[in-house]
Amino acid sequence: MPATTTPFPKQRIEVVLAESIHPRAAELCEAEGFKVRSIKPALGERELADVLKTAHVLGIRSKTELSASALQNAKRLLAVGCFCIGTNQVDLASACSLGVPVFNSPFSNTRSVAELTIAEVVMLARGIFTKSQKMHRGEWDKSAAGAHEVRGRTLGIVGYGHIGSQVSILAEAMGMRVMFYDIISKLALGNAQRAPSLGALLEAADIVTLHVPATPHTKNMIGEREIGKMKKGAMLINNARGNIVDINALAAALKKGKLGGAALDVFPHEPIGAGDAFESPLRGVENMILTPHIGGSTEEAQESISQDVVTKLIRFVNNGSTTGAVNVPQVELPEQGDGTSEDRGSDTTSAKRAGGRRHRILHFHRNQPGVLKKLNGVAADLGVNIAAQYLQTNDSIGYVVLDVDPTDGVRLTDGFKKIQETIRVRLLW
Ligand code: NAI
Repeated sequence: MPATTTPFPKQRIEVVLAESIHPRAAELCEAEGFKVRSIKPALGERELADVLKTAHVLGIRSKTELSASALQNAKRLLAVGCFCIGTNQVDLASACSLGVPVFNSPFSNTRSVAELTIAEVVMLARGIFTKSQKMHRGEWDKSAAGAHEVRGRTLGIVGYGHIGSQVSILAEAMGMRVMFYDIISKLALGNAQRAPSLGALLEAADIVTLHVPATPHTKNMIGEREIGKMKKGAMLINNARGNIVDINALAAALKKGKLGGAALDVFPHEPIGAGDAFESPLRGVENMILTPHIGGSTEEAQESISQDVVTKLIRFVNNGSTTGAVNVPQVELPEQGDGTSEDRGSDTTSAKRAGGRRHRILHFHRNQPGVLKKLNGVAADLGVNIAAQYLQTNDSIGYVVLDVDPTDGVRLTDGFKKIQETIRVRLLW
């Protein structure tokens, strides 16, 4: 059972950041006093095993695979940061069973996707890509035919979440009428109108943009039937997920002029590596903007991801909060009190008497009946007064945090280590 009963200086917290994570993460960890090692490439099995012998915090992006066996051997590992959106590269269940929180950054690239979408709305309405391609071929097609302002046009947003709602704000700022459809009741921003159904939105919009997740319900949610409901010459944008649009139906609608243009950033089959060939019935179609899944890929988004994930990691290391973790119960904790009047809501005298900040015990345990009783039993046997207690559980583990007087932290932690269901205990002071 990995356990840390002796808090050690911050300079001994070893943070390893792999895969060229944006330097903001290293800066913030160094400012905290942590020891940081930055590595450019993704970590293979052997390098990873080596790193995990000593690392307390590991930062990766999508290419380093963190398997169950790698995690089993990472005796010092406290937390993992995935400096990206997805967390498939980590065996989340194993990390959970070891009491190792995994953090990611699902929404830091929202603005990048929204901006690309707005740019495409204008480019499609003006047929710019077709005109640009002609110029590259040496053709001078100076004509207003088929080119439109977006002001006054109706943008239909399907999925009014983080990205959809940002697109809504930007579109209204350009004078567009905004209509949205979402399966959940959402607050309409500005003058945006909620559509009563997907069909109603498709019938009313000049441009439809999709911002829904990949779910069984959104698979091919825009196919021949739905395109049939759209206005003649309307445009479609998909910067969400590749299987939301039936690509063959879209290609057919564009070729026969039912739709006036489209922009796609995501595809049912995307090449694995840079340089691999892209095959699609949409290649060569008029007024079709194709981008290689870069909707969220900007330097600003990378920096924002870096800041977001590292902030969550630092909070967990320093304070025990698991807010934003994808695999362990989320517990949002206040700063450790010192028993003064600012430390509201609990005994204000004992920590002061003992001198200094309260000790905080972070306890991950297997989620079985009776564990809390055992923890409280240990405290009662030792005559320890618990100043504050926090608990959250998921199906497999529980996370209890206790704040106690400085005199009691070490002996209580030692007692907790002996409880059979204990996975991991850490003491903060
Ligand atoms: P979000 O979770 O904040 O919003 C999604 C919205 O869609 C929610 O309001 C939800 O209620 C709604 N929704 C779900 N099922 C629906 C349905 N059947 N019909 C109508 N509405 C439905 O997600 P966020 O961050 O706005 O992302 C949207 C999409 O963009 C996701 O698919 C995400 O994977 C994708 N994305 C793509 C990127 C790129 O590089 N192209 C980068 C970032 C996100």
